[in-house]
Amino acid sequence: MDNFELTKVAGAVLAALLLIFGAKTVIEMRSESRSVVVGYALPGAEPAAAAESADKAAAESKDTAAVGKTAEAGAPADGKADAASAPAADAPAAEGGADVVALLAKASADNGKGAFSKCKSCHVVEKGKASTVGPNLWGVVNRPKGSYEGFKYSEAMKAKGGEWTFENLSAFLRNPKGYVAGTKMVFAGIKDPTEEADVIAYLATLADTPVPLPK
Ligand code: HEC
Repeated sequence: MDNFELTKVAGAVLAALLLIFGAKTVIEMRSESRSVVVGYALPGAEPAAAAESADKAAAESKDTAAVGKTAEAGAPADGKADAASAPAADAPAAEGGADVVALLAKASADNGKGAFSKCKSCHVVEKGKASTVGPNLWGVVNRPKGSYEGFKYSEAMKAKGGEWTFENLSAFLRNPKGYVAGTKMVFAGIKDPTEEADVIAYLATLADTPVPLPK
């Protein structure tokens, strides 16, 4: 075997090795990106990593990546839908709210003032102050529904009719959309009847002459 032949053999061996390792690398890359896609479909996958792997997978298989991306986009939306529909599903019979009247007798306007913090992002309560996202709630107890000067109520609220009695307030606060279908008050409702009674007791104080609570 002369030198030239030796070079040819060595070349053939190197070429074979290159082929073997090259193929191995490609196979590993493929299976790696696949397994990443599978793992990423599980909940709790980090969105950034998921997007990255979805992009990687796109090079290998367009549809797997598409499925991954859809799952990513779908997850938060689904979560929201669940959160929004859950309160409606477990809300007790909305109309009436008579049980809250019994609770009002021992309700605490002070506690209600604290709980009202969840309403403050949308409602002001100071006399004469301009409404914000929702109508000013000064004097809301026994006020005709949808009547605060200058506030643009939904058609549904304008059409509801009647006044904000304790019972009606209770029904509305428990499940706003259940009581006024089409209201633009985006609030899931107060789930705890005691807290609800406290908030209503607080609302009753927001008047020149506070509305007396039922005894
Ligand atoms: C995300 C904003 C938002 C939050 C939070 C919110 N509201 Fe409202 N509220 C509104 C809007 C908007 C309306 C007007 C509804 C309509 O026109 O359909 C409204 C209407 C009302 C009304 C009817 C008033 C009227 O003049 O007819 C009452 C009572 C009320 N809200 C009480 C509350 C209470 C109490 C809370 C807290 C437990 C609360 N809201 C939380 C936005 C909100």
